[in-house]
Amino acid sequence: MSKLLIQGGKTLSGTVRISGAKNSAVAIIAACILFRGETILENVPKISDVQILLHIMEQLGAKIHWLNEESVSIEVPDQIEYSARYEEVRSLRASNLLLGSLLGRCGKAEVALPGGCDLGPRPMDLHIKGFSKLGATVETKNDYIQAKADHLTGAFIYLDFPSVGATENIMMAAAMAEGLTTIENVAKEPEIVDLANLLNSAGAKVRGAGTDIIKIEGVPELRTPHHTIIPDRIEAGTFLAAAAMTGSNLKLENVISAHLNPVIAKMRESGVIVRPNGSDIYVKGPNELKAVNVKTLAHPGFPTDMQPQIMSMLTIANGTSTIVENLFEERMKAAPELCKMGADITINGNIATVHGVKKLHGASVMAKDLRAGAALVIAALAAEGETEINGLTVIDRGYYQMEEKLAQLGATVRRVD
Ligand code: EPZ
Repeated sequence: MSKLLIQGGKTLSGTVRISGAKNSAVAIIAACILFRGETILENVPKISDVQILLHIMEQLGAKIHWLNEESVSIEVPDQIEYSARYEEVRSLRASNLLLGSLLGRCGKAEVALPGGCDLGPRPMDLHIKGFSKLGATVETKNDYIQAKADHLTGAFIYLDFPSVGATENIMMAAAMAEGLTTIENVAKEPEIVDLANLLNSAGAKVRGAGTDIIKIEGVPELRTPHHTIIPDRIEAGTFLAAAAMTGSNLKLENVISAHLNPVIAKMRESGVIVRPNGSDIYVKGPNELKAVNVKTLAHPGFPTDMQPQIMSMLTIANGTSTIVENLFEERMKAAPELCKMGADITINGNIATVHGVKKLHGASVMAKDLRAGAALVIAALAAEGETEINGLTVIDRGYYQMEEKLAQLGATVRRVD
């Protein structure tokens, strides 16, 4: 098992280029099943979640090749497998996004249910409700979801919750359905807009992405697009939190600062200086952070994917902060590990109370999920002494070349396999 050794207590400096967005890339790669022929995607993060999904696409019959570090060609043949039953599918939550594109393209889809996720139960009821409204019959049997439809017809769908994955899956299934599909109470994350832009560049008619209501006029055929994936707002937010916690002056390149508005607002509230400038963001960590209260909500609320990272930051803020996690039941796994580093955090259900301490100290800790791992990396950069972060594979899922980027900023970090 790989681990990171980080010698903390140093300020960082310099420039870091943010990679393409993981949560956009996985939806957009799955959507490529809708396009017969070769699709070229740019600004693709070469993270393990993307590599696993591309491998699953190959097993379905697509031809994949990386044109360079960040561009990939995905060639989908006329005949493509509709059943994704591989072990890899279970390891990757995002593989459930294949349901919408396979159903939209082949009229049937069979995808292994993602394994027990480390964030708690990950239901699929809203996805299934959407597919059924479009005319598909959907069954869940021995941990597979099977969906099939002789004919997909546009429908009115109201989502009980603005689920990102359900919104994306229904968009993909509806793109070539006959007639108009209206989806209300949809997710408004930037990744939804990126997917809509991809579909429209392929000839789809998707309107309203980024608002509460998306309307899709089905079209008979889609052509192969050429698309650049948006920058990763969560990776960018993670580096903002690193600068905040180490009192560093950093420049982030290749970001869309508007995607980070809820994160930037909270950082500023805590005393961090954040200055967007075109596709860059300048950030300066203050001598002392102020305690703040955080509630995670669907976009444009504060993103749950930044909750562990801001928890880290607040462990050394002046005062007591309260963090309420409203999206996932099991998303406070960074807390006990941060306490091993000297943090003072009390968890009560979905509420974390963080009493700021002067300094954290190094320890041997375990990354239990992707963002909890990122939170430990940030804490290790600020902690006195050396921290050993075990369970690196979860961090590799969502951060491309994390240690290289940190080393470039002056951090003392070493990967040990
Ligand atoms: C996406 O997951 C992201 N993953 C997650 O990022 C992110 O945390 C989440 O959206 C929320 O923003 C990808 O895009 C690959 P949801 P998703 O459906 O689509 C409930 C990361 O760290 N729900 O918006 O699975 C669900 O239980 C990952 O990058 C239902 O009740 O999230 C949860 O409480 C983690 N029924 C809430 O909605 C459903 O059918 C949000 O889930 C679907 C979801």
